Amino acid sequence: MADDIKTDLFDLFLGPKGENSRYFEELVSRVIRSHADLRANYSKDDLSLLEGTPGSQKLEEELNKFLELQKNNLPYFHPRYSAQMLKDPTIPSILGYLAFIMSNPNNHAWEGGPVTTEMELEVVDTLLKMCGFKSGWGHLASGGSLANMEAVWAARDYYGNGTVFFSEVSHYSWKRICKILNIDSYDEVAVDGDFRINLDALEDALKKSNKPLMVVANFGSTGAGSVDDIEGIIELKSRYNFHLHIDAAYGGFF
Ligand SMILES: Cc1ncc(COP(=O)(O)O)c(C=O)c1O
Repeated sequence: MADDIKTDLFDLFLGPKGENSRYFEELVSRVIRSHADLRANYSKDDLSLLEGTPGSQKLEEELNKFLELQKNNLPYFHPRYSAQMLKDPTIPSILGYLAFIMSNPNNHAWEGGPVTTEMELEVVDTLLKMCGFKSGWGHLASGGSLANMEAVWAARDYYGNGTVFFSEVSHYSWKRICKILNIDSYDEVAVDGDFRINLDALEDALKKSNKPLMVVANFGSTGAGSVDDIEGIIELKSRYNFHLHIDAAYGGFF
């Protein structure tokens, strides 16, 4: 029965009942072994600094406490859990993270993380292709708030300060971003019955503005998942001259 419903997708997760834990354990061990072998072979003539098997009762006690604590997390892994947007991480994403955190590369520049810098370029290239861009440039940020902040920072310094417009159902970080970056003003625009930015209200606000800097279109708003009418906003852009920023921090996943 279980085999009937088992798909490749199912294999990518630990499983709601930890069904794939043995397979996962095997892969995690492989990650640790591979990294240990790398160290062992790195500079073969060096003497080993460590002898014997480590054993720290304190470490084990602390780990046990930690493992107890993590049981109080919300059950994002459960198929019936939908209170928050957070979902189960996949086995490949955890393995990828573990494999690279073992060497703790720094991605500030190629010199500090040559392999991960190449991978970043590859990820950006893949994303550009997925979105239909023929050429482009980008980089990875640690999350949506930081990526959005960087976009406002760049627009402010390129076009000069002004007003940032976003719908009233936009992510709470938008107001903070404007405050942190000393943006002249921001305007929270009303939404329609489908939680999409109301284009008439946006146009009224643009008319009243001395210097529109940026309009933020939600491509999946945080609470409602609504997608703003981007073509309608592009039409307004041709008449009111602002920078269009699309916030796909949530909807971009889908
Ligand atoms: C639409 C939208 N923008 C921005 C953010 C902020 O992203 P982060 O929590 O990664 O900083 C979120 C987070 O849920 C979001 O849904």
